Amino acid sequence: MKKVLFFVAGIALMGLFSACNQQPKEQEETTEAMNTDFLTLAAERFSVRHFSDKPVEQEKLDKILEAGKLAPTAVNSQPQKIYVIQSPEVLEKVNKLSPCIYGAPQVFLFCYDDNNVCPRGENDNYGDIDVTIVLTHMMLEAWNLGIGTCPVGYFDQKELAKSLELPSNIHPVLLMPFGYAADDAAPSEKHSTFRPMEEMVEYI
Ligand SMILES: Cc1cc2nc3c(=O)[nH]c(=O)nc-3n(C[C@H](O)[C@H](O)[C@H](O)COP(=O)(O)O)c2cc1C
Repeated sequence: MKKVLFFVAGIALMGLFSACNQQPKEQEETTEAMNTDFLTLAAERFSVRHFSDKPVEQEKLDKILEAGKLAPTAVNSQPQKIYVIQSPEVLEKVNKLSPCIYGAPQVFLFCYDDNNVCPRGENDNYGDIDVTIVLTHMMLEAWNLGIGTCPVGYFDQKELAKSLELPSNIHPVLLMPFGYAADDAAPSEKHSTFRPMEEMVEYI
């Protein structure tokens, strides 16, 4: 009799233990669905280098900016300063300073602000890194909403700051033209060229 009681108690405990370790089925399914969708989005996004004239609706623009707000930054310092360039005068200026605006009707200029940035040692800070993560959040949310983007580093940061008369505490990092892709926009060859995973990743 004792043996039977121990056996039943053991089974009950095992059941309890595995229930504690299991994710609810619904949560498990959601996690799986999210992983699949994110990788599809990441694989399908490409740098758009030919835009249509159609401006992005404010509702979509607000969501893209919200995605930037939600990005992680060092010590949550949130040093980003984002300019939405859309006036003909400022668009003309950036077009003069970079060959990589690709006819976009709107361009983000991503900067960091000295007054908010987190220092990294004595002579460095996290500004470039934080701002690039913010850009990445926005680039992916844009694609999610059907809006194309192209991150652009090909411009002289000092010249741009001078031309736009930015305050001295604001440092330009990257530009990102955005908008609806023109009908003939297509991924470049580089979009699907990858170094082998074994070269890029090492388990140590
Ligand atoms: C930091 C950074 C700077 C970039 N600068 C430029 C640029 O100046 N001009 C441009 O056309 N593309 C630029 N790109 C886009 C890359 O060339 C592109 O992401 C890469 O070739 C992979 O292609 P895909 O984005 O279509 O997947 C830049 C991307 C990053 C992340």
